[in-house]
Order: sequence, then structure tokens, then C-alpha cells
Amino acid sequence: MVDGDLKDKDKATLKTPGGEYDFPVYGGSEGPDVIDIKSLYRETGYFTYDPGYTSTASCESKITFIDGDKGVLEYRGYPIEELAEQGNFLETCYLLLYGELPNNAEYASFVDSITRHTMLHEQMSRFFTGFRRDAHPMAIMCGMAGAMSAFYHDSTDITDPKQRMIASYRMIAKMPTIAAMAYKYSIGQPFIYPQNDLDYSSNFLKMCFAIPCEEYVQNPVLAQAMDRIFILHADHEQNASTSTVRLAGSSGANPFACIAAGIACLWGPAHGGANEAALNMLGEIGTVERIPEYIARAKDKNDPFRLMGFGHRVYKNYDPRARVMQKTCHEVLGELGISDDPLLDVALELEKIALEDEYFIKKRLYPNIDFYSGITLKALGFPTTMFTVLFALARTVGWIAQWKEMIEDPRQRIGRPRQLYTGEPKRAYVAMKDRG
Ligand code: SDX
Repeated sequence: MVDGDLKDKDKATLKTPGGEYDFPVYGGSEGPDVIDIKSLYRETGYFTYDPGYTSTASCESKITFIDGDKGVLEYRGYPIEELAEQGNFLETCYLLLYGELPNNAEYASFVDSITRHTMLHEQMSRFFTGFRRDAHPMAIMCGMAGAMSAFYHDSTDITDPKQRMIASYRMIAKMPTIAAMAYKYSIGQPFIYPQNDLDYSSNFLKMCFAIPCEEYVQNPVLAQAMDRIFILHADHEQNASTSTVRLAGSSGANPFACIAAGIACLWGPAHGGANEAALNMLGEIGTVERIPEYIARAKDKNDPFRLMGFGHRVYKNYDPRARVMQKTCHEVLGELGISDDPLLDVALELEKIALEDEYFIKKRLYPNIDFYSGITLKALGFPTTMFTVLFALARTVGWIAQWKEMIEDPRQRIGRPRQLYTGEPKRAYVAMKDRG
């Protein structure tokens, strides 16, 4: 029986010392076909071995498609470039959650629902006083996301579609409020409440940068840039943090706990932490003259240094988000009148040199979304410690859409990979007195 909407295609034959076995091959609407090996162990006694899941499809999904060789990224079939240029983040949230662009009535209703969930339970603001002022904001985000399951009991029953929808809207709506509070707490300024007559990104920037003692002046160009950055970061197929959310959700954990797990995974410098690491790297390089030294280090097998913001597991071509990010970077710097940012000079020259270098060409290493995002976010006024928080804020809708798809899949079961065991074979216990 072919799962879901998979197209039954040819079969694949595996030849083992114990015999030959046929496995079904399925095709999707775009991208590589898959070999269904669900019965491999039962039929052959073998496991597959794929550390890092470089060749393993963990699920069937209809949400996001990436063609790494062509540098293509589509949300529900719509190219990221078109959504980023013509759409907005809440419209993209609706698309990721429900599969279609909203009509005017659907959009108005969705925006109203999200807007009315932006306030945090007042008691949750007391959690912040338990954190050190210099706590990394990502540590606070992990804590606060998990803590939401201690407050919103009326939306943790994952078997109830209404509760799943309420939990989803609460997280999309409250992440900006929590992120802004984490920032305000780290700089010792008072929290700024959401303002319901502002759009999502304008509201977020106000909660971050307004202060009670003077009027806050909106900048629509910067708000639009922020909104576009959120669109670019919203989802990305089965990346490490999304796979973490799916695996956590497969055990039946409540949605807030699953998102907290995703935030924790995203924090790593190889993943969502790369935007912070990339800006720090550009600062460490400092000048165009020092670029060759760092390019040499990135190529040195004995040096753990890597060019942060470069390379990708899937993209073996230019990350389409990086192009939009670079354009947005120039727009923001232009709007703010920043024409001589040394970090941008280093980034542009580093990209030029790397893209012409045989090592990077051979290994198909291109700038990814994190390469230009740091410069842009710094220009918007965020400290580097907030960069991954902004990534998590945007990716929350992608995590939720993927979690929702998994929970609604009738074939869904707990995820439980196996292993290749190379440890000690069975041996008898030795009493302490006999161990010398
Ligand atoms: C994100 O998965 C997603 O979709 C993630 C993401 C999303 O939206 O969710 O796109 C967001 O995480 C973007 C990636 C951000 N990370 C960085 O910019 C950190 C720097 N990049 C690398 O750590 C690395 O490229 C990864 C982690 C992104 C990808 O790692 P892979 O696929 O496991 O590739 P690899 O480490 O096996 O590298 C292949 C080769 C290696 O050389 P060999 O062992 O073959 O000789 O390329 C080299 C690596 O040494 N290499 C680099 C490099 N990245 C890979 N060499 C120098 N600089 C780099 N940045």
C-alpha cells in the first residue's frame, strides 16, 4: 500500500549474502525518489547506516521543498524570492500552516487571532528575574518556551485539533513578545507591551527598541526588512531543529516542550547559531587584508576553524535566501545611512575570494543565509546574542507547521533510530575487591 500521496514507481533490489530483496520506490511531486526500507530489518536482518542522515528521508512532507543543486527554496510551492519580495510574514505563516495563501477574509481573521494572543501571561514576566542579566537570550528562550506549557494547560492536549490550533497561535504570537522581553531584560530596560494596532514586525521592533520616556518613531523600511528576514527564516524542510521538534513531538510531548527542544537545537553554531558566529568571525578577521589568513585556516584540515555563514548540508549552490538577505542588508544600511561598514567590506571581499577559491568551488561551499544576516541585524540595533533568538522567532511557525503535519499524519509513530554497536561484547561483572 503506497503511503499518503506517494506515487508508486519502480522497485529497488538489494543483493545481500543472504539473498536478494525488492523494496518499493516512491516518487513525490518534486525532488529525489525514495526507497521504502521500512521492512529492511524484518526481511534482511540489516540496519541502514547513515550518521547525520545525509541520504535519509525521515518523513513525507508537503510544506517546504529545497533543491540544493539548483539553489531552490519553495514554501508550499511558492518560491522564497516571490514570498519575500511580495508577501509578508503573517501571510507566510498562514501558508505554511494551512497550505494555501489566505484570501482577504482568511488573512484578516488570522492576523486578528495572532494579534490578540501577543500578550504573555503576566506571571510569566516574573520568570525573567530568575535569570542573570548576562544570561544568553537563547537560554532564556529555551526556558520561557518550555515554561509556556506550565501556563497554557488549556492547549496542551495534542489529540484536540482546537487545542493544537490555539497552542500554535499562542506560540507564533508570543515569541516576539518573549524575544523582546529577553532583550530588554539583558539591557536592564523595562518591558514594552505589544501594541495591537501595529503589524507583527513593527510591533516587535517597538517592543525591542521603544523606551517609556520618549515617543518611539516607527521606520517602515526597517519594519519591512525585519518582516522579510522573518519570511526567509520561517521554514527549511527537515533541518536539525525541525527534526528535533518532530522527534520530540512523536512521543506525544506537548507543543511548547517540542518548540523548546527546537530552540535548544537551533542554538548550535553549526545551525542557527551561525549568524552570531559569522558576525563574530567577520569582526575577528577585521580587515580585508587579513582574509587570506582565514581562508587558509578554513582549508586547513588540522584547524577546526570554518568560515561561518558558508556551506550547507543541502545547498551545493548559492542559498537563495542569502541573495535576498544581501539585498536586504544593502537596503537597511542605506536607510540608516551606513555607507562604510568595515564588516560589510570584509564580508563582500571574503565572499568574492571564497567563491573563486578552488577549495570552496570543489566542495561546493557557498554563502548561506547566515552570512549576511548578522550585518543586517547589527545595523537594525540588535546585539549578536540576539541573532539566533530572531532566527528562533521566525522558525517557530516552521517548527509548528511541521509538528502539525506530523501529528495529523495517521501513519505517525514514535521516532526511534537504531545503531551500529561497536562497544564491548558481553562480559561478566567483576567485584570491586577483585579489580586490583
Ligand atoms: C543553517 O539544515 C538547514 O536547513 C539549516 C539552515 C536552516 O534554515 O535551518 O539552513 C540554517 O544551519 C545554515 C548553516 C549555518 N552553519 C554555518 O554556516 C556553519 C559553517 N558551516 C559548516 O559548519 C557546514 O557547512 C555545515 C554544518 C553547514 C554543513 O555541514 P555538512 O553538510 O555536514 O558538511 P561537512 O561538514 O561534511 O563539510 C563538507 C566538507 C568538509 O570537508 P571534507 O571533510 O570533505 O574534507 O566541506 C568542508 C568540511 O570541512 N566545509 C567547510 C565549511 N563547511 C563545510 N570548510 C570551511 N568552511 C566551511 N564553512
